[in-house]
Amino acid sequence: MIQLIRGFKDILPGETELWQHIEKIAKEIFETFGFQEIRLPVLERSELFARSIGADTDIVEKEMYTFPDRKGDLLTMRPEATASVVRAYIQHKLYANDSVRKFYTIGPMFRRERPQKGRYRQFYQINAEVFGIASPLIDAQLIFMLSTIFSKLGVADIATHINSLGCPVCRPDFKKALLTLLASISDKLCSDCLRRHKKNPLRVLDCKVPSCKDAISEAPAIIDYLCPECKDHFNTIKATLDTLAIPYLVDKNLVRGLDYYTRTTFEMQTGSLGAQSAVAGGGRYDGLVKALGGPDHPATGFAIGLDRLAEIISAESNDLSRKPEIFIAPLGNQSKTKALEWACLLGLEGIRTELNLTDRSLKSQMKRANKLGATHVIIAGDNELEQGSVIMRNMLTKEQVPIPVQGLVANIKQILK
Ligand code: HAM
Repeated sequence: MIQLIRGFKDILPGETELWQHIEKIAKEIFETFGFQEIRLPVLERSELFARSIGADTDIVEKEMYTFPDRKGDLLTMRPEATASVVRAYIQHKLYANDSVRKFYTIGPMFRRERPQKGRYRQFYQINAEVFGIASPLIDAQLIFMLSTIFSKLGVADIATHINSLGCPVCRPDFKKALLTLLASISDKLCSDCLRRHKKNPLRVLDCKVPSCKDAISEAPAIIDYLCPECKDHFNTIKATLDTLAIPYLVDKNLVRGLDYYTRTTFEMQTGSLGAQSAVAGGGRYDGLVKALGGPDHPATGFAIGLDRLAEIISAESNDLSRKPEIFIAPLGNQSKTKALEWACLLGLEGIRTELNLTDRSLKSQMKRANKLGATHVIIAGDNELEQGSVIMRNMLTKEQVPIPVQGLVANIKQILK
């Protein structure tokens, strides 16, 4: 028997209803807030990710599915969507007609991480990206949208962490201070951090290895090193979140695992997923469009981890199963053909209909109708058909009424109203 690849999973009926529900709520919010859907390929040139996410990040160093295609070009299964959205924004000059563009995209991402609860090698993200707005107000609005999506889905155990990573003007001072601290605790750092901390000291703040986490508890806070513009930017976000009544925590170690961020970073974290606490993350990436060869346009966005979000929404609290309204139980060959015609017509009217086409006894058909949670059953034997009526049984009240075959669909519609 061929089994799934480790770290990959099937999302089966019973789960897909919740996934669809989450996607529906997110899409409603996006469209209300003026976002347009963009659909992008899963494969991109590897260089796109190295240049955007950063060559010294965990994602690019060790988690990407990269392979040469037949002509030798290095291709990568996208580990995230932001780089691809930026690539498309530049390639198609999506800024040409409007200096502000807002996009959303939903789809699979691939990272070869060690699989565990809430961490998969193929996982799904719901992304939102905004181009052309430098104002921190839009960052606050993105956090507001995220928090609205979570509250519409009934997710309670979630906290918003925010931080600022400064800009190319003020970050070097912070890096210097951080490097001084790292030099004094180098004996406590893990091998990854030791190897790359000189090139990319911020990564140490993000390291999940417990000894590193302990060692950096004394690290300086980047918000103490912000230049006046970055400080204003951050203060405006905090004040706007206060106005919007969104509680948040300033988290000095929230540096995120991708190198493109400037100023704002944020994460929605939960206590219900063990080690994989981030259900969504995002931030501002003002330099990325230019760095990838486009115009100097500011940008900001977020991604929700769909797998993690689905896991924290309790399945019982959402009865999303779509039970049939009508179960047709034909008895005899003639009535089967007629039943199929009715099922098709009822379907056209938007009535959820299930039809039995196997040779089962009435008793066994009723059992199945019950199991599926059908609200009404149409019992149609060849005899009844000859007499011009069938029986409609209300599965709740057990009441049975005859329905004329003539105009059957209209009659059923009337009863279901
Ligand atoms: P990220 O923090 O790497 O950010 O991923 C966003 C979310 O995807 C995480 O918070 C998590 O819920 C989910 N996620 C990440 N890796 C996995 C995994 N292996 N298994 C399951 N879920 C996972 C980004 O990807 C940025 N592109 C977000 C962004 C958009 N920033 C600006 N715009």
